[in-house]
Amino acid sequence: MKKILFIGDIIGKPGRTALATLLPELREKRGIDFVVANGENAAGGNGLTAVIANEIKKTGVDAITLGDHVWDQKGFDREIDTLDYVCRPANLPQGVPGRKYLILEKDGFRFAVMTLLGRNFMKVIADCPFRTVDTILNEIHHLTDATLIELHAETTSEKTALGWYLDGRASLVVGTHTHIPTADGRILPRGTAYLTDAGMTGPYASCLGRDIQAVIGSFYDGMPRKFEIAQEDIRLCGCLVEITDQGIARSFEQIILPMSVPASA
Ligand SMILES: [Fe+2]
Ligand SMILES: [Fe+2]
Repeated sequence: MKKILFIGDIIGKPGRTALATLLPELREKRGIDFVVANGENAAGGNGLTAVIANEIKKTGVDAITLGDHVWDQKGFDREIDTLDYVCRPANLPQGVPGRKYLILEKDGFRFAVMTLLGRNFMKVIADCPFRTVDTILNEIHHLTDATLIELHAETTSEKTALGWYLDGRASLVVGTHTHIPTADGRILPRGTAYLTDAGMTGPYASCLGRDIQAVIGSFYDGMPRKFEIAQEDIRLCGCLVEITDQGIARSFEQIILPMSVPASA
């Protein structure tokens, strides 16, 4: 049996602070074997850099995934291939830099990690996630004992469809991108743990991690504004799944861990 922790989109400095503060103890206390985190918003809310990827890794993250913000930081397209613990979305167009998936290993147990971009309401060009995942699973099935497939997508319908499509073929299918945790975490009939969205690791006194007033203002009058990263009510969010040596999910637990309880609580 292995314990896998998946952590939703890390939002800038507040998200990285939550990781550094909470993850080492969580990992130790719960006996977690593998930690995977989405880092697409880790650099000031937009993208990732090699320096920040390394900072995240040092907190106890084994693999970092990305999403539609993958190329937001200038020069990251030249850095990504040097980071053997980082993968970009698997269904980006052929020929772009970065790894499509990672295979982690502990005590002879091999654990594959990949992210698929959804296509509904997403601005990034991506190949069909259904066909892409079929191709990759065929390619790697003899190299892995368990698989985590992250769905980086906007709509619950596209994520749910992919979740059912992958039931019995992955150990954990977990969504990201909306920054809002959903309450539907469970184990599907054929043994795949599923959660539509893990939520973000960052400030929840915000609109998806950004300053509340700026976002309200932009909906109110449509004028351009700077969306600063918010700072309050920081939480680490994700899920913890136990999987057998055959890659079947045995337990699912949603993780919503506040960095500190407000004085008024
Ligand atoms: Fe995100
Ligand atoms: Fe995203």
